[in-house]
Amino acid sequence: MKAIAVFPNEKSVRLIDAPEPSIESPTQVRLRMLDVGICGTDREIARFEYGTPPAGSDYLIIGHESLGEVVEVGSATSGLQPGDVVIPMVRRPCPHATCTACRAGRQDFCFTGDFTERGIKGRHGFMTEFVVDEARYMNPVPAALRDVGVLVEPLTIAEKGLMQLWQVQQRLPWGASKDAPKAFDRHMQAVVLGAGPVGILGAMALLEQGFETFVYSRGRAPNQKATLVESLGARYVSAEETSIEGLASRIDGIDVVYEATGASGVAFEMLQVMGPNAVFIFTGVPGRKEPIAVDTDGIMRRMVLNNQVVFGTVNAGKDAFEAAIRDLGRFKERWPKAVQAVITGRHPIEQYERLLVGEATGIKNVLRIAA
Ligand code: BGC
Ligand code: ZN
Repeated sequence: MKAIAVFPNEKSVRLIDAPEPSIESPTQVRLRMLDVGICGTDREIARFEYGTPPAGSDYLIIGHESLGEVVEVGSATSGLQPGDVVIPMVRRPCPHATCTACRAGRQDFCFTGDFTERGIKGRHGFMTEFVVDEARYMNPVPAALRDVGVLVEPLTIAEKGLMQLWQVQQRLPWGASKDAPKAFDRHMQAVVLGAGPVGILGAMALLEQGFETFVYSRGRAPNQKATLVESLGARYVSAEETSIEGLASRIDGIDVVYEATGASGVAFEMLQVMGPNAVFIFTGVPGRKEPIAVDTDGIMRRMVLNNQVVFGTVNAGKDAFEAAIRDLGRFKERWPKAVQAVITGRHPIEQYERLLVGEATGIKNVLRIAA
């Protein structure tokens, strides 16, 4: 079967003919892959800056944002049948008995670092025709979401972030929760850093939870991303036209910052203009660049005097996948055109090279493996 493989030692990315997997235990299912999304992580792996092949293999089949159709189920699975459309989770647990997170099925919080990730770390991924995996990692999606279901995995980043946001805000003595938005005596305001797929999906999730949402991104408006963001009812602010201070002066108390760029300089500047009791959520994984100067006294001072919290989050548990599937359905009802517009291209698998190593274009590019 066809597969896109990265050979880190040879420094090459190729379309290969890989052996077709078959079910080896009664708890597994076999999938025919439909759509596989391409993200910054895949492009980094294709530049040989990230990613690890499975032990004993000289290549890694990449791809972790996916949508597949069940074609065969093992005899000990339940709830799945051929024809069902599913999103497989990405992380798999580490083997250590002492890892409370992995033993609790929460490998997204693994303590040991010995977890694996399909298409990223130690396990082949989904840019291929067929996949076999344990049924428990499959998340069924309604047939009505088949056209946009590939957005579920990138949306889980926001879902897990927002779940933790509300857990953190339970610290507020008057009990702030997304089910009691009155907990804030005014409008809740969020800033999203970046207008890529993670930023746009994050903005949708924040709007859905009632935040007035500002998306801060490089490009001058009008542009494709700005138009999309504005069509949601969020405000697009260009970093070329407005400084971080300028942005902050337009917002009376930023409650949440959802970072979705991996650009640490802008992120740490943003940290200096958050409002009282605010929460900053880091989701980007920056490459290693030269150190930059940051006003650490200013940041520490503001954080203490304003009871601020900063956390990082990596996706994701089953709860976030389920929330993403539910929310994507809501988004599709509320913004049918915008949700479609996040996917700017569907391409045959043969076009992998341009998409993985060529200049980044559009918003979310998807390899259509099968219809
Ligand atoms: C993936 C996550 C993964 C992370 C770090 C992201 O692009 O969506 O599943 O944990 O990269 O490898
Ligand atoms: Zn672990």
